[in-house]
Amino acid sequence: MSNRLDQFNRDGYLIIERFNTDAECDSLMERAETLVSNFHLKGKATVFQTSEQERTSDDYFLNSGGNISYFFEKDAFDICGELKRDLFHSLNKIGHAMHDLDLVYNAFSRSPQMKKLANDLKLSDNVLIQSMHIFKHAEIGGVVDVHQDSTFLFTEPLSCVGFWFALEDATVDNGCLWTEPGGHKTLLRKRFKRRDAGGTEFEVFDETPYPTADMIPLEVQKGTCIVLDGLVPHMSRPNTSSRSRQAYTLHSISNSANYPTDNWLQRSDLRPI
Ligand code: FE2
Repeated sequence: MSNRLDQFNRDGYLIIERFNTDAECDSLMERAETLVSNFHLKGKATVFQTSEQERTSDDYFLNSGGNISYFFEKDAFDICGELKRDLFHSLNKIGHAMHDLDLVYNAFSRSPQMKKLANDLKLSDNVLIQSMHIFKHAEIGGVVDVHQDSTFLFTEPLSCVGFWFALEDATVDNGCLWTEPGGHKTLLRKRFKRRDAGGTEFEVFDETPYPTADMIPLEVQKGTCIVLDGLVPHMSRPNTSSRSRQAYTLHSISNSANYPTDNWLQRSDLRPI
């Protein structure tokens, strides 16, 4: 299976069909519903309305690297601060440490096939630093702008490798991933960091626009794993369909690379795949 590494190095991404069983995908979606049912928004809604409570929202976000936090779709709340839909269908994602804190997510994240994949891609030095369960609900699931994952998980040297798991079929109309084959052979445009005065900011390295015209949709079936080089530009469009497009993502970095103390995500005790 050395093909995996050759393809990944050539294209900057790798698609592995039937990586997870339907039952494994279902276990994660069921677990997310359980976690959400135990999350009580009452009295905390203002945290998530960034225009009014930017500081509080910043703190919630900046503390989320080491716990399980809940993030809403941009249009989830009405002008009175009430959810327009039920809680579950208002969420954009859960993050960012389920892989270490929750048994179901941990089992999915460190499965035998993940250990084999890490071995095939020569990632034995890599540790898991971030997990996200992205709901991309029907009609409300929003756009994810073009970005490079190393922007958000910057190391010296660069080492971020991401894993994107389709928990449901992903198509153009429900917001599948788009990326540019070979697009990882480029520079990192910017990095996302903590600002000395509080909050966050981008540090720009290179103003070259992302080559959005060269991107292709990666339509994949439930159970597919897509591996992404930290430099390959990728995005997803809004979900305009009547079906959700749930996905789980994991990000790894080299344990021997330097991880700056002003990266947005700070946590300790990183463990391998
Ligand atoms: Fe990404």
